[in-house]
Amino acid sequence: MEGLQLIATGGALPGRLVTNEDLSRVVDTSDEWIVSRTGIRQRHFCTVDQNAATLAIDAARQAVARSGLSPDQIDCCVCATLSGPCASPSVACQVQRALGLPEDRPALDVNAACSGFVYGATVARGLLATLGGRYALVIGCEALSRLMNMEDRSTCVLFGDGAGAAVFELAQGAVFAATLGACGDDAIRAGGPNLTGSSPIEMDGKAVFRFAVGALPRCLNTVLDETHLTLDELDWVVCHQANSRIIDHCVRHLGANPAKFYKNMDRHGNTSAASIPVALNEMVESGLLIPGQTVACVGFGGGLTWAGMLLQYKGAEQ
Ligand code: UT7
Repeated sequence: MEGLQLIATGGALPGRLVTNEDLSRVVDTSDEWIVSRTGIRQRHFCTVDQNAATLAIDAARQAVARSGLSPDQIDCCVCATLSGPCASPSVACQVQRALGLPEDRPALDVNAACSGFVYGATVARGLLATLGGRYALVIGCEALSRLMNMEDRSTCVLFGDGAGAAVFELAQGAVFAATLGACGDDAIRAGGPNLTGSSPIEMDGKAVFRFAVGALPRCLNTVLDETHLTLDELDWVVCHQANSRIIDHCVRHLGANPAKFYKNMDRHGNTSAASIPVALNEMVESGLLIPGQTVACVGFGGGLTWAGMLLQYKGAEQ
């Protein structure tokens, strides 16, 4: 099957900045504990008029504008989220309407928690191949602040809100590999039927940590093997930004160059499905990720799920 290439990205972070210092006034915690255990220093929370769909629309609009494509060239819209404002209409359908994407193409949400963006891209690739399309809009967006118990210090210091979006092109001969997996386990639970926070996020942090440090190198090695690339030949690795110690553990385990592993959890916390596309967008905006480079994206989290994808950043046609 043909592979995906990254054409353009977009991002949106909500308006309320919450520092570790702010949280230490709400629960029994400290900046020292949060930074040393997670690498997180601050996160953004939605304001009252923002939610996962409004962030998704902002990020998607930016990605499509930067792609140089018109909305009617987008052949499918897939949105990864577990914290949309309602179950229906899906966030993807809200994006379709706001951006005026073609009505005769699919728009759907995917829930694979923190692996969601890579799952979403893989679903989009299948839709393009099946329906004969060329360009996909894939979004990861979360408003996890709406699902948090702000009295539970073991979780409320970890998560943040945000959205990232990417336009992909399905291309013959593209450098591309993907691997997805799942193993039903409730080590992370989030959200009740109305997503109001009545069933807030609960997590067995230690169990998830152990799972993550195994899943991350496994996914990375799988996509490297499939593309016949070595870690030295790969330009960038973008892992789900749950905890800097998980990424450090993976770097040590693989004997890798830590500079290849992008980190931004210090500024955004863990934004679940949004973390990988938010990172990709920052890397493009700051000139770190440049056309022609290869990047592996690796997600792991609730479900439990895991997902890896290796592809090339092509950039938009000038
Ligand atoms: O996005 C989905 C994927 N999620 C993840 O990958 C998360 C994976 N897990 C982790 O990142 C880590 O397990 C955590 C950051 C969640 C927790 O770190 P930890 O080193 O596993 O800490 P812990 O849960 O074992 O807690 C150690 C101590 C406990 O106190 P005692 O029992 O040793 O007295 C906790 O009560 O730290 C205490 N603690 C806190 N102290 C201050 C827990 N949360 C806090 C807090 N501030 N916010």
